[in-house]
Amino acid sequence: MINDLWYKNAVVYCLSVATYMDSNGDGVGDFVGLARRLDYLQGIGVTALWLMPFQPSPFKDDGYDIADYYGVDPRHGTLGDFVEFAHGCKQRGMRLLIDLVVNHTSNQHPWFKDARRNPESRYRDWYIWSKRKPGNANSGVVFPGVQKSTWTYDEAAKAYYFHRFYDFQPDLNTSNPEVQAEILKIMGFWLQLGVSGFRMDAVPFVIAEKGPSIRKPQEQYEMLRGFSQFLNWRQGDAIILAEANVLPDTDMEYFGTAGERLQMMFNFEVNQHLFLALAEGDSRPLVKAMRQTKRRPTTAQWGHFLRNHDELDLGRLKTQERESVFAAFGPEPDMQLYGRGIRRRLAPMLQGDRRRLELAYSLMMTLPGTPVIRYGDEIGMGDDLRLRERNCARTPMQWSTEPCAGFTKNKKPILPVICEGPYGFQHVNVAEQRRDPNSLLNWMERIIRMRKEVPEIGWGDFQFISVGTAKVLAMRYNWRNNSVLCLHNLDSATREVRLRIQGDDERDCILANLLSDDHSQAENGSHRIVLEPYGYRWYRVCGLDYLLKRSTI
Ligand code: NOJ
Repeated sequence: MINDLWYKNAVVYCLSVATYMDSNGDGVGDFVGLARRLDYLQGIGVTALWLMPFQPSPFKDDGYDIADYYGVDPRHGTLGDFVEFAHGCKQRGMRLLIDLVVNHTSNQHPWFKDARRNPESRYRDWYIWSKRKPGNANSGVVFPGVQKSTWTYDEAAKAYYFHRFYDFQPDLNTSNPEVQAEILKIMGFWLQLGVSGFRMDAVPFVIAEKGPSIRKPQEQYEMLRGFSQFLNWRQGDAIILAEANVLPDTDMEYFGTAGERLQMMFNFEVNQHLFLALAEGDSRPLVKAMRQTKRRPTTAQWGHFLRNHDELDLGRLKTQERESVFAAFGPEPDMQLYGRGIRRRLAPMLQGDRRRLELAYSLMMTLPGTPVIRYGDEIGMGDDLRLRERNCARTPMQWSTEPCAGFTKNKKPILPVICEGPYGFQHVNVAEQRRDPNSLLNWMERIIRMRKEVPEIGWGDFQFISVGTAKVLAMRYNWRNNSVLCLHNLDSATREVRLRIQGDDERDCILANLLSDDHSQAENGSHRIVLEPYGYRWYRVCGLDYLLKRSTI
């Protein structure tokens, strides 16, 4: 296959316009400000941006409650500003993905307002209603402890409406062909304005059957093919990156056996087991999750991440496993959320330990798929646990030691800037790390650069190499006659491993270290490698003339 599927070897950066930079001093980030930071993003080497919702919204769920799909919230700028920004991305060779939040609207959306007050409204059937409260109204809530029910009574409509998430997010009736047509129209609109695709919110709920009499909702997977076909007719290289926290045995339903459905999905199975592996210093749970999610069509790709804007969802782990991750990374009750996850940012979870942060990011970058980095993680930003629910990890980007971290001139930013403790902007900010060659930021830039030069990870096939201890994860990627080997020591102790490279001409060859001078020469066909606590290595198998050897297929 010609390797021009851009997302197969991309490095994605996730950010929210609200917290990135505020150019007009109202305390809220905007597109003009964000556009001024594009050189920074190009500089760290990311190749695609995933922009969280910026459309008009009451902003009760960080913008995931949209009141107009065809606009920009005035606090973030205008459609004109968006287009300038999209052009700025294009000029720098960066792709732009935006959130597509169509499982539900805001209750302030004109469709919902019309639907609730008028039974004859053309929008009535765009939502899900019930005269009586369905028997299962208290089950299936996504935010337990905060959300009480999935059905809420509406006085004006004289009926209950269904909402998978908060009560201000009425679910759209996505089985309704008119709603489906509108979803395509929304995609078409933003494609026309310069995006390369969508991070599609809550996909399993978008495609689920909905209604008061539905007991066990079935997924309508073919809906995904419709979305994908439309995208490709309009713009051949556009993609959907799905948020679908699903069990591995349904992965192929989402990708489609011939890759005819979704191009990308976040790999939640690997994410949860990666944290279990880090917590227990044991690669086995991660290996198992990678094996379970290995199968996918060639055109499909996993998105791998460490933390995102939500809680670290550990809901798929067994109780004891989840307790083990809680104990390691979020022992206090206020660090946990919804009974299933941890709401902290990565750096505090790993106690700011640079060795562990590098290990975690090196590991993520070498998982079979495309890495997705959360803004601020590249400088090791912290969280503010005084903020409610997931807001603690959504604080403004820390640019400098200027007031409000250089995010805004306003004294009241949309969310408080972290200004106390070891993660305060006085200590953790871009400007200072930019000047320090040994900073996390400069390390991140180097590792991103290296990741892009190792397309074997994005495109190739992988196998696990036995090194005699589960404390160390050893993976080999092969692609087009080239091969890389990645080692990660999950343990807090030094580990020595021995391994053999199996290929015919490879028995005695050198493993060329891509990140330092410390290469490994085989002795009698065996490599002896000493990994320091939380150490990692990226090797090219058989030296650095690999590009001379790379085949075309
Ligand atoms: C998933 C998003 O990631 C989350 O932040 C949001 O609250 C829900 N979907 C509802 O849109």
